[in-house]
Formats: sequence, structure tokens, C-alpha cells
Amino acid sequence: MAQLDGDERSAYVQAMFDRIAERYDLINRLISGGQDQKWRRLVVEKAALPPQGSLLDIAAGTGDIAFEALKTAPTARVVGADFALGMMLVGRGRTPHGQRVAWTGADALCLPYADCCFDAVVSGYLMRNVVDIAQALDEQRRVLKPAGRIVILDTSPPPDNLLKPLIMLHLKVGIPLIGRLVGGKAAGDAYRYLPESTQAFKTPLELARLIEAAGFRDIGFKMLMFGTMAVHWGIKPR
Ligand SMILES: C[S@@+](CC[C@H](N)C(=O)[O-])C[C@H]1O[C@@H](n2cnc3c(N)ncnc32)[C@H](O)[C@@H]1O
Repeated sequence: MAQLDGDERSAYVQAMFDRIAERYDLINRLISGGQDQKWRRLVVEKAALPPQGSLLDIAAGTGDIAFEALKTAPTARVVGADFALGMMLVGRGRTPHGQRVAWTGADALCLPYADCCFDAVVSGYLMRNVVDIAQALDEQRRVLKPAGRIVILDTSPPPDNLLKPLIMLHLKVGIPLIGRLVGGKAAGDAYRYLPESTQAFKTPLELARLIEAAGFRDIGFKMLMFGTMAVHWGIKPR
């Protein structure tokens, strides 16, 4: 996987998530020790959606962030977009919120929305997967209204400290093993990809600089899970 680039990499990621869609939520709960929903709540909090506001959850997958947004802001217009249709089909079947999200097939690098139409654009575990981070950020800025908020949740390369060997063991052995036990061979492969892409991804500070370079202001981030996870946020200038 590490050697793939461009369209090949996108196709690989898309097919991988379609294969694991049915078991994705359960595996997530297990590998995060049940913490993942808490991180998604933080994403929605940082999105600070106004009443009747509109939120795009890009790379929505099975919709956990979109559902969290609807719990917090029941009158919001929530769009869930992803290029893995299998993930969204699983999400749509989930009640009560599955039917209330406007699901859309979309590539994060070329969003099918007009300029300046969302109050918030959020994503969970997208940016590590895209082949062009700057382009993904540009697209998110384009579709945000002035003063709209971007919020990004993703994994971060484990920091160099005493815990690193244990974290690496969890990433390289624990996660693929859980993936394989719960989801079979396809999930085992997918959850080997997670540690690979996490180690190759930007540090939280590097990602914050890229968000700034994409034209956002008031950027901040919070590191979670011993520095292996981060939530970033920023505002599109008026
Ligand atoms: C790990 S899942 C995360 C799903 C969800 N956001 C969550 O928090 O559980 C990553 C999702 O990103 C989607 N994805 C990756 N690259 C994408 C792209 N370029 N355009 C749209 N979706 C993409 C995958 O299809 C997958 O559903």
C-alpha cells in the first residue's frame, strides 16, 4: 500500500472500506477501547453549529460524526459524503438518524457542492487517506461559508517517548489482530493499513501549518490518546 499513489491509492482505499463496512463500527469501538465516540463528540463541539446550521461530514463512512451532529443539533441540515458507497449504505440502515442524513457519493478532492454553502465541514480519519492534503483542505475551505469552521479528527504518528514501544505494539499487532478476529482476512489487511498510514501521516503541528497555509485562521488542535490522535480546528476568514 505504501508504494501506491494517485488514483491507484484512492481505488485501494475505497475498495478497502467497502470490504470492511459491515464490521467497521464494531472494530472501531474495540480498537479505541470505546473512546472513539467521545472524540467524535469533540469534533461536533468544535464545529459550533448555529441553530438550523448546515454541516458536511466528509468521508462520513457509516456516519458516526453526522449522527453525533444530529444529536447535538437536531434541526441542523447534515450531509454525509464519502466515496465508499458500501460504508454509507451501512450508515443509512442505522436508526434513528440514518434516514436524516443526506448521503452523497463524493470524492473529498473534488466536492460536488457550490462555494460557501456549509457552516461547518468536519471529517474523521479522512486526511491521512487523501492523496493530496492541500487540495482536500482547499475544497473544504471553498464549500465553507465565511466564518465557517473546519474540524479534522485523525490519527497522528506516535510521539517519541517511553510509551512508544507499547503504542507500536498495539498499532502493529493488536489492531490488525482485532481486525482479523472480528472482520476476517479483509479487515486484517485493512487494519494493517491503519498503522502504516498513521506513521506516514503529518504530526499535529505539521497538519496545523497546512491548515494555516490553506487560508484558515484561529487554528488550534488537541492531542488525544497519548498523542496518537488529534482534533484540529480552524475558521474560514470573512
Ligand atoms: C476510517 S473511515 C472514517 C469514517 C468516519 N468518518 C468515522 O469517523 O468513523 C475513512 C473514510 O474515508 C473515506 N475516504 C477516504 N478518502 C476519501 C476521499 N478522497 N473522498 C471521500 N471519502 C474518502 C473512506 O471511504 C472511509 O469511509
